[in-house]
Amino acid sequence: MTEEEFTPDSEILVIGSLNIDQTYRVDNLPQAGQTLHAEGCFTSFGGKGANQALAARRTGHEVSMIGCVGDDAHGEKYKERFTQEGIQCEAIFTSEKSPTGSAFITLDSRGENTIIVHSGANADLLSEHLDSVQNLFKKASVVLLQLECPLPTVKYAIQLANKYRTPVILNPSPWNSEILDWEVGIDTLIVNQSEACSLFGSSLNASHEKLPELAHIKIQTLILTQGARDTIIYEQEKKAFTVSPPNLQAVDTVGAGDTFAGAYAGAFIEEQQLIADIEFANNAASLSTLKIGAQKGIPSRKEIIEFMKGTTG
Ligand code: RIB
Repeated sequence: MTEEEFTPDSEILVIGSLNIDQTYRVDNLPQAGQTLHAEGCFTSFGGKGANQALAARRTGHEVSMIGCVGDDAHGEKYKERFTQEGIQCEAIFTSEKSPTGSAFITLDSRGENTIIVHSGANADLLSEHLDSVQNLFKKASVVLLQLECPLPTVKYAIQLANKYRTPVILNPSPWNSEILDWEVGIDTLIVNQSEACSLFGSSLNASHEKLPELAHIKIQTLILTQGARDTIIYEQEKKAFTVSPPNLQAVDTVGAGDTFAGAYAGAFIEEQQLIADIEFANNAASLSTLKIGAQKGIPSRKEIIEFMKGTTG
């Protein structure tokens, strides 16, 4: 992976949520019935879909996003910001009936967090919207999705990608067991340990040598991210392997999983070795935890590569 090494005419299509995050910094996360004083409070851009789109864009690739914002100042600002970042926003629709999605985040002194999401306009993204931009599915090199938009829309997006034989990367977060009934093909499924438990009925570790099977979903590669612990990778017909992330002192892990997914999508379309893709995504995710805010710390391709050169000598 070098600073220039990518195909400029490839494109990543992200379908997902755009939220405005309201973050409160507290010593400890609140317990039921407790009132706490916040040490600080700030508003920033977030949403799993948008965070992943930005992380993908920062790997140097063309990115188009399909999503929905409210007919309000937040929605307008979000589209302005993404346009400045070079993300194609023509397929970010505007809902007349709901405000832009929002998230309420508490962040403690150890970098742990809780998140409550209000879907708002994200819930208004429908299959009809996808039909109106089917060409994006056809020309994309990869389609990247999460589960913060309506599930029928996400399922339809995967079906469209399957129809055009465009590879799909799915990060099934926040978890919803409905996806277990979907008859779809996924190239890469990116999960954390709790999502893996929900998918397979038990936690996974590297001694599970084979990619576990699911009844309906066909998966080529399963990536299990574990924060600061080793990432485990399972592929069809191959032995599982692990990749260690760098050891950094996180100040905010909000959006780290999204940075992993977006950076992985960027590396994926460069057709490198899978291990190189995971190393790149792990380094991107770790670097993103050094700044507060879901998108503040998302590193550029140059920053990731320079950091990796520095740590590997
Ligand atoms: O994954 C982090 C994101 O989850 C936040 O930006 C918040 O908006 C929620 O969608």
